[in-house]
Amino acid sequence: MAAAAALLVVVGVLVATGQTTSAAKSPAQAPAQAAERPYCERFKCVAITYDDGPAAPTGRLLTTLRQKRAKATFFVLGQQVAARPKLARRIVRNGHQIGVHTWDHPDLTRLNSAGVRRQLWRTIDAIEHATDVRTHLMRPPYGATDATVKEAARRAKLAQILWSVDTEDWRVRDADIVVRRVLSQARRGSIVLMHDIHPTTADAAGRIIDGLRARGFRLVTVSKLLGATKPGEVYFSR
Ligand code: NI
Repeated sequence: MAAAAALLVVVGVLVATGQTTSAAKSPAQAPAQAAERPYCERFKCVAITYDDGPAAPTGRLLTTLRQKRAKATFFVLGQQVAARPKLARRIVRNGHQIGVHTWDHPDLTRLNSAGVRRQLWRTIDAIEHATDVRTHLMRPPYGATDATVKEAARRAKLAQILWSVDTEDWRVRDADIVVRRVLSQARRGSIVLMHDIHPTTADAAGRIIDGLRARGFRLVTVSKLLGATKPGEVYFSR
């Protein structure tokens, strides 16, 4: 009886505080949901991200991620998705997140608004065609964004995801250095920038995952790290 009374109080509080009606309708789940803070408030999370693919090293990278049961986020180029739809599909099937990195990697701040929209929408459509996923994330090439890009992203319902750890893996092309940079710079809530077009970056993945976990990090997708995001807004980390 006491338990039932307590449950009624919990349900009453949820209704009074304006929780959704579905939560109020399933009282058996309501106490557990109320007690549970977002995953990345409870745990030390980091999101590793890979840009510019899918490309030749992506398949090997996906195999490593699957063996290690780690999740990542891939910001893909539309032209690469069109050329390698099976790899794009595998990214999604393996439980990773996929986002827009434009069609062919222009600096979006040099395009007019119609040009920006075309870059975003062609890629949204290519991803959806290959994977059946309508993504809600984008990363502007070079991290270059402005009011025009923001407005186009907002209208396309895409949040802008930048980064807080830059490995410069494209410059060093050295797996040892990439591993060292990620492990020394990652903090709780970091978003780590890498590129799955470089074999050296695929080589680094296993040691990055092991090293981050040894330091207590959980590897999660960008949306799991950030929770709900606002279209057009720019995010660097949690
Ligand atoms: Ni890029």
